[in-house]
Amino acid sequence: PFEWYAEMRQKTPVCYDEQRETWDVFRYEDVNHVLKNHDAFTANRTLEDNESSNGGSDEMPMLQTMITTDPPEHNRLRGFIDEQFQPGAIREYQPQVEKVTAELLDDLENKQQFDFVDEFAVPVPVIVIAELLGIPADRREQFKEWSDALVARPEDDTEEEIQRVQRGQQQAQQEMGRYFAKLLEERRGGDGDDLVTLAANAEDLSRGEKVGFCILLLLAGNITTTNLLTNTIWSFEEEGIINDVRTGAIDHEQAIEEVLRYRSPIQSLKRIATENVELNGQQIQTGDVLTLWLGAVNRDPEIFDDPEKFRPERGPNRHIAFGTGVHFCLGAHLARMEADVAIEQLLERFDRLDADLSDLQPLSSLYGLESLPCEVSVNA
Ligand code: HEM
Repeated sequence: PFEWYAEMRQKTPVCYDEQRETWDVFRYEDVNHVLKNHDAFTANRTLEDNESSNGGSDEMPMLQTMITTDPPEHNRLRGFIDEQFQPGAIREYQPQVEKVTAELLDDLENKQQFDFVDEFAVPVPVIVIAELLGIPADRREQFKEWSDALVARPEDDTEEEIQRVQRGQQQAQQEMGRYFAKLLEERRGGDGDDLVTLAANAEDLSRGEKVGFCILLLLAGNITTTNLLTNTIWSFEEEGIINDVRTGAIDHEQAIEEVLRYRSPIQSLKRIATENVELNGQQIQTGDVLTLWLGAVNRDPEIFDDPEKFRPERGPNRHIAFGTGVHFCLGAHLARMEADVAIEQLLERFDRLDADLSDLQPLSSLYGLESLPCEVSVNA
């Protein structure tokens, strides 16, 4: 999509698409303005009267939770848990993430050839979030099936396929909802420090809001982090820098920030205008839908030098891959920590890692790959 972004950003930075019935917004300054201005541009998607909005585009599927709620209500839905996702609290989870990663790497060491997506990038965030929520180990497999169904996308445009996927999503959501409702009930009044107990004990949240919160963590956190891990190895291989990252000649944390900018796992967000406003010379009407292209913004030459180039040492790196404003990603510090730990351990473990980029299959929804075959070896 990057050539399209570049052209649009230059020629028609705010532009109405009749077919998709949305304004497309491509420049950093404009997207930043919309995201910071939550009064004029609501995140409440239920105001959208566009039935087809659930299919085939870049956005995450959504329930009515903090992510689709504006201030002041937003503060109530996010405030009770914000502290748990701040850097200090996230550091405490690091040993758990190290252990999860080490166990997965043990398996991969025996295999030597594996699909990086299925066998590493998918399980890391799923197991980590299951641990943070305190999901018992014997429920993990089921849990993964639910998260996959929730984010599944139709494989073609036929009515049949669309309905099949929607039914799968509804079923997974219901089953998961029941499961979390029960778990929340069991843990109410408990003194555990898992996220389900914290939600169970939150005072001014309804039952439905607590369940919605648990499900949101899966929806928002899993494939995004999977894609960050995949896009990291993809980019490092493409640039030929795997060895330099391994030796520390290139700082891996900074390089991962560059992956977030260069191959942002979420390429677009949606907002809806709540009043008639002007944006970069265009008249937006109340009720109009806006698609904010994070992928384009993160390559805006007004902000980034040499934006189409992957520069692992880029700094400062003002990308907005995690959004900005009140909905700035709750899990940003967690995602960064997971990626730092997972990539560092992976490269430490294997003296050689080759990713095969000969047959790249991009995902149809969020920005990542279907699979990434890898081969590794360890020196004696
Ligand atoms: C919000 C990206 C990982 C939980 C967001 C938003 C973005 C984003 C762009 C803003 C949405 C909007 O403004 O409409 C990412 C990326 C990730 C990632 C690129 C990985 C690389 C995670 C993880 C979790 C998480 C691991 C939780 C475990 C959330 C939540 C929100 C959110 C709860 C809603 C926050 C709010 O509405 O106040 N994320 N995310 N994300 N993210 Fe993430």
